[in-house]
Amino acid sequence: MIIEPVVKGVVARSAHPYGCQQAIRNQINYVSSAEPIVGGPKKVLVLGASSGFGLASRIALAFGGSNADTIGVSFERGPSEKGVGTAGWYNNIFFREEAEKQGLVGKNFVGDAFSTSMRQQVIDYIKVEFGGKLDLVVYSLATGVRPDPETGEMWRSSIKTIGESVTGPTINIETDTMEPMIIDTATEEEIEATKKVMGGEDWESWIDILSEAGVLADGCKTVAYSYIGPEATYPIYHKGTLGRAKTHLHATGDLLNDKLARIGGEAYVSVCKALVTKASVFIPAFSPYILALFKVMQDKGVHEGCIEQMQRLYSQRLYGPHQHVPVDEKRLIRIDDWELDDDVQRQVSQLMAQITPENFTTVGDYQRYKTDFMQLNGFWLDGVDYQERVNLEALKALTP
Ligand code: NAD
Ligand code: NA
Repeated sequence: MIIEPVVKGVVARSAHPYGCQQAIRNQINYVSSAEPIVGGPKKVLVLGASSGFGLASRIALAFGGSNADTIGVSFERGPSEKGVGTAGWYNNIFFREEAEKQGLVGKNFVGDAFSTSMRQQVIDYIKVEFGGKLDLVVYSLATGVRPDPETGEMWRSSIKTIGESVTGPTINIETDTMEPMIIDTATEEEIEATKKVMGGEDWESWIDILSEAGVLADGCKTVAYSYIGPEATYPIYHKGTLGRAKTHLHATGDLLNDKLARIGGEAYVSVCKALVTKASVFIPAFSPYILALFKVMQDKGVHEGCIEQMQRLYSQRLYGPHQHVPVDEKRLIRIDDWELDDDVQRQVSQLMAQITPENFTTVGDYQRYKTDFMQLNGFWLDGVDYQERVNLEALKALTP
C-alpha cells in the first residue's frame, strides 16, 4: 500500500513508518554533532518516550554524548485492520533499532503509564535486566485523561480559561484555515480534573514507587516539562487550566527534590519553548502566537525544535559545565530563555497584531508549523520515497 497523510482537524489519522524512521535518524544526526552532554546519566527511564519532548530527550541522552541505556514507556497503537498504527509506535521501534546498533539498550513498554501493572513491569525489568538502578527519570507524559488509581474513574483535562472567557483564532491544519474560537471558563471541577491529569501527582507517585523499590541510584535526578510563555498568552495558558496544572507540577518538583535529598538526588522542572507537538496543536488561540514566534526566531537564527531544546537542556543545564543546575528564583530550569528574550517578544507582539485569517499563511511561519506537524507523523521528510509501496505484513512483524 501507499500511505497518504490523513489529517482531521488537528489530529493525524495516518503515519508513515519510514518517514518516522527518517525523522529519528535526522534527530540522531543532529545530536551526534551538537555540543555533547558531558557527565550525563547512563541508565534512564523516559515516561512519554514516543514523541515530542520525551522522544527528543531519549535521543539526546542516548546519542548526544551520554550513551545512555533507556527504558521508554508510551501509549501507542501498532498496525491492524484499522490502519498502519501511530507514529509513536514506529518511533519506538526505530529508536530501539538505532540504539541497539550502537550497543545501547532501548527497551520499550507500550501501555498505560498510569497503571500499577506498568509500574511493576518497569521495576521488574530494571531489577532483572537493566542493572538494578536508574540515574535519571524523565517525566514527559501529555494526555487528556488519567484514571483515578482508587476508583478507575477517568479524570479529563480541559483547556479553558479561569475567570473570563477569551476569543482567539485557532488553526485547522486539515483545511489550512484560521477560525475564531471562544475559550470558555472552567468550573472548579474542570480545574481540579486538569490538575489531576497534567499536574504532578502521577510524577510523584512514580518517583515514590521507584524509590520504595530501591531502583533509584544515589544522586538520581528527575525532570518534568512545563510551559509558561509570555504575558500575552497568560489568559489561555499560564493563568488557565493548563497553567494551574503546571503550577502544581512545579510544586511537585520542589517536593520531590526534598524527598530525593535522602539519596543525594535532585528533582527539576524545565520550562520549555512553545513547539508543534501532537499535544500542543490542541491549545486554542495559541497558534497565532506560535506562527509569529517561529517566524521571528527563525529570522533571528535562534529557532529550536524539540531535539535542539533537549540537547541544550541536557548538555548545558541538567549536566555539563555547571557545578549546580542553573535555575531561576522559583527553582525552574529556563530553557525557554531564547523564546522569552525581550527583543524576540517585542517583534512577536508586533507580528501577532498583524496576523489575520486571510494572511496567516504568509505573515507567520505557517509553512514551518505545518511541516513540523506533518513530520511528527512521518510525512514531508526529505529522503523518503513516499511512492514506494509499504508492506503491511512486514510492518506487523516489527515489535516494540
Ligand atoms: P506528546 O504528545 O508529543 O508526547 C506525549 C507522550 O506521552 C507520548 O509518548 C505518549 O505516548 C505518552 N502518553 C500519553 N498518555 C500516556 C499513557 N496513558 N501511558 C503512557 N504513555 C502515555 O507531548 P509533548 O508536547 O512532548 O509534551 C510532553 C511534556 O512537555 C508535557 O508535559 C507538555 O506540557 C510539555 N511541554 C510541551 C510544550 C509544547 O509546546 N509542545 C512546551 C513546553 C512543555
Ligand atoms: Na513526550
